[in-house]
Amino acid sequence: MRLFQGCAYRPYSGAMQTLDPGDPAALADEVASRFEQLHGRPPQAVVAAPGRVNLIGEHLDYNGGLCLPMALPHATYAAVAARDDDVVTVTSGQADDRFEGRLDALGPGDVSGWAAYAAGVLWAMREDGWDLTGCDVVVESRVPVGAGLSSSAAIECSVALGAVTLAGVEADGAVRSRLVRACMRAEAEVAGAPTGGMDQAVALFARAEAALLLDCRDWSMRQVPWAPAAAGLALLVVDTRASHALTDGGYGARRRDCEDAARRLGVELLRDVDDPQAALAELADDERVHQRVRHVFTELDRVRRTVELLDAGDMDGIGPLLTASHLSLRDDYEVSCEELDVVVETALDTGALGARMTGGGFGGSAIALVRADAVEDVAAAVSDAYDGRGWPAPGLLTAPPSAGARRLR
Ligand code: GLA
Repeated sequence: MRLFQGCAYRPYSGAMQTLDPGDPAALADEVASRFEQLHGRPPQAVVAAPGRVNLIGEHLDYNGGLCLPMALPHATYAAVAARDDDVVTVTSGQADDRFEGRLDALGPGDVSGWAAYAAGVLWAMREDGWDLTGCDVVVESRVPVGAGLSSSAAIECSVALGAVTLAGVEADGAVRSRLVRACMRAEAEVAGAPTGGMDQAVALFARAEAALLLDCRDWSMRQVPWAPAAAGLALLVVDTRASHALTDGGYGARRRDCEDAARRLGVELLRDVDDPQAALAELADDERVHQRVRHVFTELDRVRRTVELLDAGDMDGIGPLLTASHLSLRDDYEVSCEELDVVVETALDTGALGARMTGGGFGGSAIALVRADAVEDVAAAVSDAYDGRGWPAPGLLTAPPSAGARRLR
């Protein structure tokens, strides 16, 4: 789709960053001038919201568990201005992918495709009591689509923050929490992806040099020190280029298995289980559900151990936990795929301290924790592994933990 033309990968050629996040100030200027060309007036504001990777804590958000995502430097930029009628337009930076609708027709069933993420948020915000006017929005994304790096949450959160800015409201923590909810509703009810809120929360609350520990039981959060570069490490992100869509059945089926298991165990969410061993014994008659729930319990434990290590300044130490998370997602939760497994195995064989799929799975991206001086070796080995199998080249990025959604001008 032309909307995201800005994020084409360059082939790997010994230089790691195959997908440039761009300079935020320059990108803000670019999207502002596109806005002016299209609408004949300057935008009132330009905001940005980032994509993310999750360090650990996968498929735990909708179980009320813990997860530990961080923002990427790759973001979606949105230039916005109010209109004096009730029309909403959302246009790509390339101007040929345009949505137009009335404020009262942006809800479930009214909008489809990528526009559901943008327009759906305005619907969900109005449902939450926001008094919005019509507006023009021009978006430009540097977050690759379908890569499991939360391009959809980046669109939602940029539009949400843009709308709040137009409403003249300061985006403090309480407002951002409301926006997380609105973006989740838009994604579930308008776009049809029943996701768990981690992506929107990190897009709106991330800080540079930190990972966000999210407790999805009560939505409390804490910034956990995470600055791999300072420890001579790097987080390598590999977009497998294998297809990934959360509106397909696999994600929803996992979620339903967990909800059914919680019902059987007499709790609201799997997080509420006090005695995991007893709960697993109770589910022993259903092998699939037993496996899914075992992943949830063991992953929760891995997140806690990861956070303890990071709080103690031991970044190297988390490697084995990342790898164990991958194995659990592969074998118990069954959301990995051949490409993800090849990336993880190749990275580990080339000396990565740990590696795992990140995000929903079924394709998408993997992360590898590597020594800074080994990044090129791991990237080259992964590229070779792909080449040897005749697969299209993977997308490669290093990911310094970056800032969450913010106003740029
Ligand atoms: C996707 C969803 C998130 C989360 C992850 C798995 O990214 O959008 O809410 O459930 O999958 O951890």
